[in-house]
Amino acid sequence: MKRLEGRSALITGSARGIGRAFAEAYVREGARVAIADINIERARASAGEIGAAAYAVEMDVTRQDSIDAAVAACVAEAGGIDILVNNAALFDLAPIVEITRESYERLFAINVSGTLFTMQAVAKQMIAQGRGGKIINMASQAGRRGEALVAVYCATKAAVISLTQSAGLNLIRHGINVNAIAPGVVDGEHWDGVDALFARYEKRPSGEKKKLVGEAVPYGRMGTAADLTGMAVFLASAESDYIVAQTYNVDGGNWMS
Ligand SMILES: NC(=O)c1ccc[n+]([C@@H]2O[C@H](COP(=O)([O-])OP(=O)(O)OC[C@H]3O[C@@H](n4cnc5c(N)ncnc54)[C@H](O)[C@@H]3O)[C@@H](O)[C@H]2O)c1
Repeated sequence: MKRLEGRSALITGSARGIGRAFAEAYVREGARVAIADINIERARASAGEIGAAAYAVEMDVTRQDSIDAAVAACVAEAGGIDILVNNAALFDLAPIVEITRESYERLFAINVSGTLFTMQAVAKQMIAQGRGGKIINMASQAGRRGEALVAVYCATKAAVISLTQSAGLNLIRHGINVNAIAPGVVDGEHWDGVDALFARYEKRPSGEKKKLVGEAVPYGRMGTAADLTGMAVFLASAESDYIVAQTYNVDGGNWMS
């Protein structure tokens, strides 16, 4: 028996990276999955590669009309939503004295408001359906502590952990489990961008930061998106029904809490 047979999932920011790997894992476990992304061309390409159980939905998590339209698209396409992964996020990096309001507002709009108001819209839909649901928010080890150059992103991920706690406590009465995953350092296009930013601010050759953070992981290497899919399937499945408002580190041992 597949663990997500017959379920409908919405994964934000799943045109690439971790979200896409989650979409593939959910499809393998029998779910229909909305590849929801601001980059609709890439979402369509990824959905096409994943197969008939995946479909692309254009979605900008910073806009309420776009969130509502994405929920409506999932209802029309798959008859409802059983699983939401709030995965879309943006990273930026700067010393405190160089942080711009534009960067601050953009990161909070995507990482925090996007998570909260997508969670709200999907929770309303799940409550109306009356069969519970699973909401998984993507936090980060960055939400567990500050980092000298990463103040804003760290603050957004700390907010995601806090929202997961409050929403988890509020929504479990409807049979909706809200939990989060806190990855460590995960190789992919996202970290290529992070490496380029560190190269600029720490005056390093390209690729050096990535090498250093990988060597510092107790497991001995950076993570891959595939390292996270076990937790993502578990938290979306009935096996995690008694787990409420938690954030799980999946980071090769980088952080203990
Ligand atoms: N990669 C890592 O090392 C790492 C570590 C810890 C946490 N995370 C978290 O995991 C999640 C996925 O990370 P990733 O590495 O796959 O990132 P990524 O940058 O590869 O993918 C992010 C996706 O979000 C989409 N997106 C951006 N803005 C959007 C918006 N306004 N509306 C909808 N979609 C939007 C992008 O188009 C992209 O497809 C993020 O929440 C990230 O913060 C990643």
